[in-house]
Amino acid sequence: MNISARNLSKHYILNKGLEVAALKEASFEISAGETVAVVGPSGAGKSTLLHLVGLMDSPSGGTIKINGELFSDASADLRARTRREKIGFMFQMHYLLPEFTVMENILIPVWNKRSDKIKEAAALVERLGLSRRADHLPAELSGGEQQRVALARALINGPELLLADEPTGNLDRETGEIVEQIIFSECRNRNITLILVTHNSELSNKAGRLIKMRDGLIIN
Ligand SMILES: Nc1ncnc2c1ncn2[C@@H]1O[C@H](COP(=O)(O)OP(=O)(O)OP(=O)(O)O)[C@@H](O)[C@H]1O
Ligand SMILES: [Mg+2]
Repeated sequence: MNISARNLSKHYILNKGLEVAALKEASFEISAGETVAVVGPSGAGKSTLLHLVGLMDSPSGGTIKINGELFSDASADLRARTRREKIGFMFQMHYLLPEFTVMENILIPVWNKRSDKIKEAAALVERLGLSRRADHLPAELSGGEQQRVALARALINGPELLLADEPTGNLDRETGEIVEQIIFSECRNRNITLILVTHNSELSNKAGRLIKMRDGLIIN
């Protein structure tokens, strides 16, 4: 996925009328298949940037183009459809549904055509080393396994872009690095553009490119 942002800004108005500038005039280009790590201190605007690129939120100013098409003023419907068809998400918390098995959780984004997708889900389960856990509930899994399920769920719709916001932030270092390796190799093998927020400097070195942020600004 090609992403082009020009002077992208996001302001939040707090209930006391105070304005917070979470993102200030950010301009960047990301080409299809690139792997990008976003780093910076807490409050720097990393999640805000991801939300805007992922069409979960609209910018207060500036423009964002996806594959050449302008999305800054797109309707909620168009944004939702584009998200569903083209973008996968991973968060620090896995947000798996507790009542559903591993297989069912993976199929949630494609639930209305799940019978067509079972083979693909099973292949993902196999590749991500979850075969023995396919019928387990999330609570029966380790943290690393839960995040691998979250990765499979993010990949089931064949996204062009994976957005990962500290996906290994809750894991111990070793487990985190295993999951990170899998995220990178899946994206590289399938030519998925990856934007990943991390506090792990080793991980950021594995990315093709680094975006450093501070106080709502991109500083490199
Ligand atoms: N919904 C919101 N309402 C008001 N302010 C917000 C909101 N979301 C974020 N902010 C503010 O915007 C700034 C950037 O937040 P953001 O979540 O993007 O930071 P971050 O770099 O992801 O931090 P962290 O590493 O802690 O996740 C912060 O000052 C935050 O308080
Ligand atoms: Mg964040």
